[in-house]
Amino acid sequence: MGSYLILRITKLKLKGERIVIRPLKRNDIDKRLAWQEYPDPLYAHYNLKDITQAQKREWYKKRKKDPKMLYLAIDDLKGELLGFLNLYDIDWENKKARLGIYLGYEYTGKGHGTESIKNFLPYYFERMKFRELGLDVASFNLRAIRCYLKCGFKLAGTKFNKHDPRSKIDIFGDEKYKDIRKYFKKEGNEILVQFEEMRMTDEIWYKNRTLL
Ligand SMILES: CC(C)(COP(=O)(O)OP(=O)(O)OC[C@H]1O[C@@H](n2cnc3c(N)ncnc32)[C@H](O)[C@@H]1OP(=O)(O)O)[C@@H](O)C(=O)NCCC(=O)NCCS
Repeated sequence: MGSYLILRITKLKLKGERIVIRPLKRNDIDKRLAWQEYPDPLYAHYNLKDITQAQKREWYKKRKKDPKMLYLAIDDLKGELLGFLNLYDIDWENKKARLGIYLGYEYTGKGHGTESIKNFLPYYFERMKFRELGLDVASFNLRAIRCYLKCGFKLAGTKFNKHDPRSKIDIFGDEKYKDIRKYFKKEGNEILVQFEEMRMTDEIWYKNRTLL
């Protein structure tokens, strides 16, 4: 990774109409801990509580020091922390990475996710000059899929991953989950869940950027 790029990323500030994307700070973890919890157990793995000072330091260090990761915070214009957007599995040589994003529960469904990604993509393709951005998203997560489609990502196939054990749900027994049961399967003692693979390339970006 060139030192020019490191410097740019350290100073990164991407401003949209309602959001600002900036590098992670140490106290972001405390702001995250103050978010409302996701009430839906399917999203329970985004809830974080009761962590020690040492775990907070570790949380920050892990995200800041990993050369294959670029972890950014999303604020509103008043400096309220709305969420995080990150690149992981960064392949600096082949100019590829994967995208992750999550917002505090109270900030979802208001367009912030779409606005954040739309503001990040020009930076990714035009400043970082990366060539491909991939992500995976649980097939039942229709809100996220819709958000990614609006940002120009294309569906690129499906795969099964282990279901996050932090979401303690009775997917095959509880009638509440009858509509999304089709995305789950049992393999031995394990529950697997279907994910959509989505991707965007620089070619797609340059072709569609004025339409987004
Ligand atoms: C995914 C996430 C980043 C999206 O950001 P967001 O600000 O909530 O999403 P937006 O408001 O920008 O867009 C959501 C779109 O999905 C639509 N939507 C919401 N619920 C939906 C549902 N159940 N089915 C279909 N579409 C739905 C909204 O109407 C909106 O589309 P529209 O603008 O065409 O009306 C955010 O919801 C989040 O952090 N969720 C929890 C964590 C997560 O799922 N992360 C992604 C993991 S891959």
